[in-house]
Amino acid sequence: MLQGIPEAIIDEIRQRTDLVSLVEEYLTLEKRGKNMVGLCPFHSEKTPSFSVSPEKQLFYCFGCGASGNVFSFIMKMDNLSFTEAARMLARRAGVKIPEPKAANRKQDLLREQIYALNRLALHFFCSCLKEPAMGKVAAQYLQDRGIDQSSIELFKLGYAPGGWDNFTRFALSKGYSEELLLQAGLVLTRDKSGGVYDRFRHRVIFPIFHINGKVVGFGGRALQEGKQSGPKYLNSPETVVFQKGTVLYGLHLAREAIRRENEAIMVEGYTDVIAAHQAGVKNVIASQGTALTPAQARLLRSQANTVTIAYDADSAGEAATWRGLKILKDAGCTVKVAVLPAGSDPDSLIREKGAEEFLKIIRSAAPLVEYQLSRLKERNRVDQAEGRLRYMSEALALLRQINNLVERDYYLKQVAEEIGVSEEALRGELKKYPGKGNDVNNLVLKDQTNNNNQIRINAAEKLLLSLIIQYEELATRLQDELNIDDLEHPVARQVLEEILKIKEAGLTLTEEGLIDRFSDPQAHALIVAAATEPSLQDLPWETIEKMAADCITRIKERMQERQWQEIQAKIKAMEKQGLEEQARNLLREKLQMIVKAGRSPYRSGGGENFNG
Ligand code: UTP
Ligand code: MN
Repeated sequence: MLQGIPEAIIDEIRQRTDLVSLVEEYLTLEKRGKNMVGLCPFHSEKTPSFSVSPEKQLFYCFGCGASGNVFSFIMKMDNLSFTEAARMLARRAGVKIPEPKAANRKQDLLREQIYALNRLALHFFCSCLKEPAMGKVAAQYLQDRGIDQSSIELFKLGYAPGGWDNFTRFALSKGYSEELLLQAGLVLTRDKSGGVYDRFRHRVIFPIFHINGKVVGFGGRALQEGKQSGPKYLNSPETVVFQKGTVLYGLHLAREAIRRENEAIMVEGYTDVIAAHQAGVKNVIASQGTALTPAQARLLRSQANTVTIAYDADSAGEAATWRGLKILKDAGCTVKVAVLPAGSDPDSLIREKGAEEFLKIIRSAAPLVEYQLSRLKERNRVDQAEGRLRYMSEALALLRQINNLVERDYYLKQVAEEIGVSEEALRGELKKYPGKGNDVNNLVLKDQTNNNNQIRINAAEKLLLSLIIQYEELATRLQDELNIDDLEHPVARQVLEEILKIKEAGLTLTEEGLIDRFSDPQAHALIVAAATEPSLQDLPWETIEKMAADCITRIKERMQERQWQEIQAKIKAMEKQGLEEQARNLLREKLQMIVKAGRSPYRSGGGENFNG
């Protein structure tokens, strides 16, 4: 028995579930060799390192080390316990699970109870809206806002009646405890008298669904303005089934369209999503007014390449929005920003001007950098010297964050033209304070938090491996210049050795083939990181050769310094033992070596350390 489910049943579920098609419900996979690869849903990345083996029915992420089978995948993905995962997959595969004897773990039970209570609340709110007398005000409100009956049903909109405890009494009468109502965030405790009262009162209810379609929480819009009625929108607090940073409003309905269009349109509000859907634009989700989290960005990235932001006209320039855009970009999304007419949001725009106008604005959305530059330009008066300088330094800060050199160059030209300086001058300024991504030292395996297989490697060695793996012609060219033993990291040495073997045998170098030659997860991590280093893609050949030559020089220098350090240690030991004569000889030898290497004898011994 595995947590209350017979092993035979677990086996059957496993046999009847294909990992590839399960994973494909969440992200797009592409065939690569024997495996299928895609962007890892468990960490942020721009190039795919999430690999599924159809043969072995296992997944493995070379980036973050996440791995497992159908059960572990769904557990991680949908935040389920083992039992929940097994039940979910059993339903999906049509396998019957005999009722478990006793309740499993406490947490499972609690989650199931909260889901059940949320379903009860959903039905309660929906039927209150339908009730002619009770739901009248709310129904009228929705009608006035142009939300039609089919949208009400699709989004399962409801009404939480006025009064203090309509829902509380209803739920208690159905046998739910006050304690559970509290844990589901549906009620609040009274100050003195004890007991609980409804959180949502006299509000239109927007249920919030997880991507899997379960109700995890609610948003309630006030029907009255004014302090008395609290905030415009009141939302469920975080509960064991509702982690706000991991949910996007409307994703359960938008998922198919998002994947089909390979684009998600992100709006702020519940009503924006509904208005867009109603007008036939279905790849729309809402951030619910809050700043985006990396988890949400990954969720989106697993469904689409491009995210177009269509926020309320007034909030597009806010700091929180810019942070959110950076999070999306860091997750590997192509980000575009649509600028809505002043004072409008998608909901009002669609209602006043129609879906075509909305789509027109979406289609003319500017790439993120272009949008950010135009905002910077608006803020500074580039017709005056002072403003021009400020614009330049702000723009340069932005340009430094662009990893893609071609893209960076493109915008550099644009900025140079805008402020009327030569490209060369601006490029000089850009180089003055090299930003991240521009600096070789930062090419150490990064983006690998929570990775047990993390490996610390000198930047020059990592970069050289990346170059050779991405530009395999280099391997043959460098053969004479490079001595494998010069490399400091043992795994890097092994990988390079295999690469040279592959080339010597006249075989083609593929990342998959290379990986197959190693069982060491450190080697896997290193190869994948090297092969997917995005900043090296599409560079001109001279740059690559120059970079490789620099790497080799630095690797050799470091190797020499290690040798000298060893000699220095020997000299120290000899001096300690009173072997003055031998120590002097050795020192002379060392100095000669250093001079021969063409380096200053006064700088030796202190090997640089690029470990990140
Ligand atoms: P908006 O104020 O733009 O909402 O906030 P909206 O959808 O345009 O509102 P109305 O109904 O048309 O006036 C955008 C989103 O921010 C969250 C909600 O998710 C809302 O949909 N929000 C806003 C809150 O959670 N609480 C608030 O008090 C306000
Ligand atoms: Mn709005």
